[in-house]
Amino acid sequence: MLVLRTTRSCPVSLTFLFVLALALAACDSGGSGDEADDGPYPALRRQSSFPVGVAITTDHLGEPSYQQVIKRVFNSLSGEYEMKPATIWRGIGQYNWGPADLITAFAFRNDMRVHGHTLVWHSSTPAFIQNFRGTDEAFDAAVRQYITDVVTRYRLTVDAWDVVNEAFDDGNGQFRNTVFRQRMGPDYVAKCFQYAREADPNVLLFYNDYGTIWNRRKADAMFAMIDDFQARGIPIDGVGLQMHISHNWPAMADIQRVVDGIVERGLMVHISELDIKINPDNAITAPTPERLESQKQRMMYIVEMYRRIPARLQYGITLWGLSDKDSWLIDFEGRPDWPLLFDANLEPKPAYFGFLESLD
Ligand code: XIL
Repeated sequence: MLVLRTTRSCPVSLTFLFVLALALAACDSGGSGDEADDGPYPALRRQSSFPVGVAITTDHLGEPSYQQVIKRVFNSLSGEYEMKPATIWRGIGQYNWGPADLITAFAFRNDMRVHGHTLVWHSSTPAFIQNFRGTDEAFDAAVRQYITDVVTRYRLTVDAWDVVNEAFDDGNGQFRNTVFRQRMGPDYVAKCFQYAREADPNVLLFYNDYGTIWNRRKADAMFAMIDDFQARGIPIDGVGLQMHISHNWPAMADIQRVVDGIVERGLMVHISELDIKINPDNAITAPTPERLESQKQRMMYIVEMYRRIPARLQYGITLWGLSDKDSWLIDFEGRPDWPLLFDANLEPKPAYFGFLESLD
């Protein structure tokens, strides 16, 4: 996999290369995941024809045990928070690049792709933007500058960006009334995609959301937006389906329907934040063999469904975390769960082997 995107026409800045070199020096010294694989179980990245990703934090990169599994098993990385505006955007023209640079450097060192998550998200908006003091024009210019600067900095190391995350409301499928919509107008999503495309003619641009599987109105609204983009020539390359699901929900046919809608429009499909809850009913206090098996079956369905997508539209499947003990869902749901591929000891679970079996 090409990680430094050498097809780029624009020269990368010396400052960036300097920072990259520093970050590389601070990073792991192990080999890349493409070297001889003598691990205790087969690595997904070696078995899969499409990229398999994981969301990580820079804390994880500091843990040798995590590092080993991440670089052996996966070939795509998303930052759990490092590439979000709340982390990067400190003021107009002021940026905190450190955490994102660590991730791109680790990925470069280990022959991994980086998926940029995310440029605009109402839940990760710094206070100075949320409470912006200035005209609507100045707000628009600030967003444009942010998108331009972030996309430009990572032109050579980030393959794709989630340009806007979660633009639609849950209930009625209308656009969320975010500060971006209030300040930039109803066409703000299209503007953000255009700003990203202007900054980089080659980077892939994704719309990412949850709930499009189980909320028909939200899916309809998303597809209406995409149809409008395509009719007007607004750039969009793919759709991210977050896929925070459960072992027994939602219906498989509902997942297939939304995937079909993306494929029909010629867009790439990213299962972008996969986790599969096994305790949605708060009925267990430790993983049971039955529920782990049910999680495995669901994982196999997802992978088999994914493999039926035309290869050119398979952007990849990304797990939202490595180990069950670090899953965001434990805080978010406020109850125990075990939604990922690795247990607390970083041992692969039945769902991991289900993923592997489905690649045969
Ligand atoms: C979550 C992270 O996992 C948490 O660590 C953070 O505190 C909040 O964000 N949808 C998204 C992700 O698009 O960015 C969210 O990630 C999970 C839901």
